Amino acid sequence: MMTVSEAVTARHSVRAFLDRPVPRETIAEMLTLAARAPSGGNLQPWQVDVLTGAALGALKERVAASLAAGPAGEGTEFDIYPRALGEPWRGRRFASGEQLYAALGIPRENRPARLAQFARNFDGFGAPVLLLFSLPRHFGLPQWAHLGMFMQNVMLLAAERGLATCPQEAWALVHRTVGEVLGLEEDRLFYCGMALGFADTAHPVNGWRTERVPVGEFARFEGF
Ligand SMILES: Cc1cc2nc3c(=O)[nH]c(=O)nc-3n(C[C@H](O)[C@H](O)[C@H](O)COP(=O)(O)O)c2cc1C
Repeated sequence: MMTVSEAVTARHSVRAFLDRPVPRETIAEMLTLAARAPSGGNLQPWQVDVLTGAALGALKERVAASLAAGPAGEGTEFDIYPRALGEPWRGRRFASGEQLYAALGIPRENRPARLAQFARNFDGFGAPVLLLFSLPRHFGLPQWAHLGMFMQNVMLLAAERGLATCPQEAWALVHRTVGEVLGLEEDRLFYCGMALGFADTAHPVNGWRTERVPVGEFARFEGF
């Protein structure tokens, strides 16, 4: 059994999956445990739709039709990134993108290949399961943070079970179609998708790891 430290270390974003199903009971158990996540006032603001098989196929088809009609997507209901990202964040985003495309042997100037890789988001990178996270529309920044804690629990519990994940904000670009297909009520805001399945460990896209800045750069210790 993995320790929490091992699960935190093992979790990474996987962008190629095996064609191997994940049993419903496994996911239900993971979500039950993930819901032990803390939330201010114990609001438990999260809601998740779990799609596989024909249901997932139907979503992908509708999304593909939407993107064929408007390749830029449907606009977003929130800024996925701040408009002016600034440094050091811009550099970090750039570096992780460069590492991803380098792993795939896609040069900087090959924009069509980069776009094609990005488009694989809307296939869930071939994962058999897609989780779609939403929360009440009138909830604010604190509740979004609590949803994030729930999502991180899901990813760590997946790692513990030998499963892989990729959180996917990309689905927010097609939020209208997602909302329609899931039948989300007007007062529910779709935030983020998450691909779930078994990693294709032989695929080069999964053969690299993102970096992190050292603790001294983001933590300040006093009084020790
Ligand atoms: C909420 C959230 C949304 C993300 N959305 C996407 C996405 O749409 N597509 C993608 O390929 N990666 C996505 N990522 C993965 C990040 O790029 C990744 O977490 C980051 O580069 C760190 O790498 P790691 O997850 O492998 O540690 C997302 C991550 C988070 C937390």
